[in-house]
Amino acid sequence: MGPLRTDWPPAPNLTPDPETGLGPWSQDEFFRALREGKRPDGSSIDPVMPWRNTAEMTDLELGAIWAYLRSLPPVQATVPGSME
Ligand code: HEM
Repeated sequence: MGPLRTDWPPAPNLTPDPETGLGPWSQDEFFRALREGKRPDGSSIDPVMPWRNTAEMTDLELGAIWAYLRSLPPVQATVPGSME
């Protein structure tokens, strides 16, 4: 992996939409994704998502990001090729 990699998956919809976003995720599941690179179903998030860096964030910091994402209006938008 590196800057020349051309097969990046699209970045996902992180709004609280129940079908196409993080609606069904709990805060614990969100923390796990950003610390262990695992989705709630146990599948691995592609390493282009810099979860090894977000793993260094504190509960307070990740909680603030979670609160912000939860404050957004849900957007129903399937990102082609992701989360299938
Ligand atoms: C604090 C900042 C970030 C947060 C909260 C965040 C959150 C997430 C979450 C929760 C997922 C998994 C979603 C899912 O599969 O349902 C994800 C995946 C992803 N993230 Fe991030 N992310 C952040 C920063 C970044 C950055 C900086 C990049 C790129 C430079 C990035 C690129 C991606 C990509 C490409 C995926 C999809 C990986 C895959 O399909 O396996 N993210 N992110």
